[in-house]
Amino acid sequence: DKGNHRHFMMKEIYEQPIVVAQTLRSYLRPLEQQVALPQMEFDLSTIERVVIVACGTASYVGMIGKYWIEQMARLPVDVDVASEFRYRDPVLGPGVLGVVVSQSGETADTLAALRHMKAAGVTTAGIINVPTSSMAREVDLLLPTHAGPEIGVASTKAFTCQLAVMAALSVNLARAKGKLDAAAEGEIVRHLEESPAAINAALAHDGNIEAMAHIIAAARDVLYLGRGVDFPLALEGALKLKEISYIHAEGYASGEMKHGPIALIDEAVPLIVIAPGGPLFEKTVSNMHEAMARGAKVVLISDAAGLAEAGGDAMATIEMPTVHPLIAPLVYAVPIQLLAYHVAVTKGTDVDQPRNLAKSVTVE
Ligand code: F6R
Repeated sequence: DKGNHRHFMMKEIYEQPIVVAQTLRSYLRPLEQQVALPQMEFDLSTIERVVIVACGTASYVGMIGKYWIEQMARLPVDVDVASEFRYRDPVLGPGVLGVVVSQSGETADTLAALRHMKAAGVTTAGIINVPTSSMAREVDLLLPTHAGPEIGVASTKAFTCQLAVMAALSVNLARAKGKLDAAAEGEIVRHLEESPAAINAALAHDGNIEAMAHIIAAARDVLYLGRGVDFPLALEGALKLKEISYIHAEGYASGEMKHGPIALIDEAVPLIVIAPGGPLFEKTVSNMHEAMARGAKVVLISDAAGLAEAGGDAMATIEMPTVHPLIAPLVYAVPIQLLAYHVAVTKGTDVDQPRNLAKSVTVE
């Protein structure tokens, strides 16, 4: 049932404040000001390295997890797409926590990677949406997302719920490794609790995004730029646009642009710049100006302060609420999803059932 929405994808985008809150509810202990995980049979403090394996959108959650776990827990993190991991003979061993991320829990390559890790004696955890799935049954520690059934082929609400659980895992690793005191954890609980309202505030800009969709729909190629955790978000924006609107799109780390992709820039290639306020804002904006100097037409996604400072020359802007950097990926995912959605609707493609794609890829 799509409710009042034309497509499941839109319904699922709009469900995010509720399902993220629902997911966080099973991890946050507001009274204790703690972030908890389900009971586990192993000791997180013995973990020395984290290996995250997933496909597609779920792999971008893994990339964001790398930034978070390295920063908070000071543990080295590897992130792999499952189809590469399986055949690469990765170095595994004691002290490794293997983490799979999957909406369906049935993706063939991710499941094979999980079995490969288990056979190598690695302790495993899974951030999984379908609790009855193969992966959910086989991981040592199930970290459920409570997104509910996701029908649209393009993943939306599963992504933000996976990010919420990845944040909870990062905090628990940080505490177990002695890198997080109680006061800092309390702060994180408060920021995570603010995320559903912030996602809601992001949804309020839907009309503005719909109004600019025709500009992107006319493009043949689109580039997405971001730095830090916004780099995986740039990849996610590009993936979402290609899969449902069939427009060629690429995501780049902002600083990589001048190492090649800047050659693509001209008036015909819109550039979507994801630049929340924070320590990397000025860096991303300076990359944006380099592109503008070569004629790029920019859509800048930032908060009010960021747009006031750097939005003046942009072709269009999308204003996000001012949020703590930890929850920014959950919030900035929304305009990226909405933009892909409205561009696809403008082009008249089959949003919920894009050509050549299946919801769950159970063959390799
Ligand atoms: C993109 C998308 C895919 C999936 C990928 C993994 O919108 O939906 O990239 O993220 O196929 O699927 P799961 O999470 O079920 O393992």
